[in-house]
Amino acid sequence: MYFKKLENAPEGYTYDDFLMIPSASSVEPKDVKTKSRVSNNHDLNIPIISSAMDTVTESAMAIALAQEGGIGLIHRNMTIEEQVEEVKNVKTSSDLTIRDVITISPDSTIKDANDIMNYEEVSGLPVVEDDTVIGIISKRDIIPIINSDYNKKVKDFMTEEVLTIPESTSPDDALDIAYENKVERLPVVRDGKIMGIVTVRDILERKKFPNASRDKKGKFLVAAATGPFDLERAMALDDAGADIIAIDVAHAHNLNVVNSSKTIKDNIDADLIAGNIATSEAAEDLLAKEIDGLKVGIGPGSICTTRIIAGVGVPQLTAVSQVADVAAQYDVPVIADGGLRFSGDIAKAIAVGADSVMLGSLLAGTHEAPGDVVIMNGRKFKQYRGMGSLGAMTGGFGAGTDRYFQEVKGSMKHSKLVPEGVEGVVPYKGPVSEVLFQLIGGLKSSMGYCGAETIKDMKEKSKFIKITASGMAESHPHDLTITNESPNYPTTRLM
Ligand code: XMP
Repeated sequence: MYFKKLENAPEGYTYDDFLMIPSASSVEPKDVKTKSRVSNNHDLNIPIISSAMDTVTESAMAIALAQEGGIGLIHRNMTIEEQVEEVKNVKTSSDLTIRDVITISPDSTIKDANDIMNYEEVSGLPVVEDDTVIGIISKRDIIPIINSDYNKKVKDFMTEEVLTIPESTSPDDALDIAYENKVERLPVVRDGKIMGIVTVRDILERKKFPNASRDKKGKFLVAAATGPFDLERAMALDDAGADIIAIDVAHAHNLNVVNSSKTIKDNIDADLIAGNIATSEAAEDLLAKEIDGLKVGIGPGSICTTRIIAGVGVPQLTAVSQVADVAAQYDVPVIADGGLRFSGDIAKAIAVGADSVMLGSLLAGTHEAPGDVVIMNGRKFKQYRGMGSLGAMTGGFGAGTDRYFQEVKGSMKHSKLVPEGVEGVVPYKGPVSEVLFQLIGGLKSSMGYCGAETIKDMKEKSKFIKITASGMAESHPHDLTITNESPNYPTTRLM
C-alpha cells in the first residue's frame, strides 16, 4: 500500500521542463494585445501583479505598476492604519482633481497672493467667498503690479469670468475646455461650491500613461493583502477603496481559510482573490465560496523553502494548469504566483491557463520596491526576503507568522519560529517601467511565435514540447563568456 503511493504518484512539471513550439503565425509582436483579467471584475492591460511582500509592494510600486497597466498587491506586514494609508496613496496619486485646493479671499492683498503662490509653488489661485469661486488670480496678473500695488486687494485685479467644470468632466473634455479658453486651471465645482481644481499640467501628465489600470472614476487600480482570518483589515481596506483584496496565506486549502474566505467575501465590495493553492481540489473548494480569483503557487518562489522545510509543493506548471482547468469551468481568473525568472516563463504560465502572473524577485530590485540600495563589492543591490523568513516574521507587523499558521506570543524567541523563507539581496535594476518593458516585450515576442494575438489565443493556440535537462542547457547561452549584460538576461552572480 505504501509503495503504491510512489508507484501511482503523478509527475509534476515546471517552467524549465517545457518549451512552446513555434507555429505558423501572421501575428507581429507589436500588434499583440496583452489585456487580461486579474479578477472577476477587473482587467489589466499587462498581466503583471507585484507580490504582497514587504520588500516588493508598497504604494510606490503599486503606483508604478498601475501606470504601466498592471497592479500592485500591497503587503500586510504593517498595521491596518498604515496599510489603509498605502491604499489611499495609490488612489489619491491618480486623482486628477487636486482636492486640497489652495484658495484666496477677495479681500486679501496682492502681496498675500504672491506670497502664497511662491510658498505653495502654484501659478494661480481661485478667489473664493463662502466656498463659491468668484474669480481667479494668476502670477501673470500679479507680476506687473507687485512692486507698485502690493497692498491693493485681490478683488481689484482678479479675472472675474471663471470657467468651472463639474466633477463628472472627463480628462479629455477638461483639456479641450482649457485649450479652447486658453486657461491653465479649471476649478471643479459641486452644487456651486468649489471642491477641487484640475490643471492642464496634470492632465498632460496623465496622458503619458495611456495603458494605466484605472477604476471607473479614473483612479489607479490597487490590490491589498489581508490575513486569512483578518476580517477587520479586509473591511478597512475595502472602505479605503482597494479594488481587490487578496487573502494572503501559504495554504489556502486549509479548510478554516476556505470557510473564512466566504465571511470576508460577504463583507466587502472589492473582488476577493484567494491563495495560495496548487491543486484542482483546492480550486473547487474555494470556487464554491464564490471567490473572484485564484492564486497558485506552493513553494516555487525564489525565496521559498516550503518544499525543503515541509517537503510539500507542486511544480508550478502542473499546479497552474490543474487549477486553470477548474477555474475555466467557473470562468474565474487565475494568477501564477512565484518562480518566474524570465519573460518566457510569463508566456508559459499564460499558455497553461494563467490570466496573469505575480512577480517577487523580478521586481524586488527595482527603484520602486521598498528599501534602500546597498552596495556590495562595488555593485548595487536591494534587499529581498520571503514573508516566511525570520526577518519578515519578527519584523513589521509579524504578518509572516499567520501566513504560515504560526503564532508569536509576547517576547517569543526566534528559535520558536519555523521559517519557510530566506533573506537576501537581488541586483538593483532601476525603474520598474524598464523591467516591465522587457518582460512584456518578451511576452509579445512569445505570442508572435505562437500565432496568438490575444491572451485568450495564447491559452488556446500554444503547444508545448517537453524537454530534457540538456534541452534546457542548450536553451541558455553557452560556449562563450558574456561580456555585455543583457537587460532581459541578467548574468550578475551573487555568490
Ligand atoms: P518569486 O519567485 O517571484 O516568488 O520571488 C514570489 C512569491 O513567493 C511567495 N512567498 C513565499 N513562499 N516562503 C514561501 O514558501 C516565503 O517566505 C515566501 N515569501 C513569499 C509569494 O507567493 C510571492 O508572491
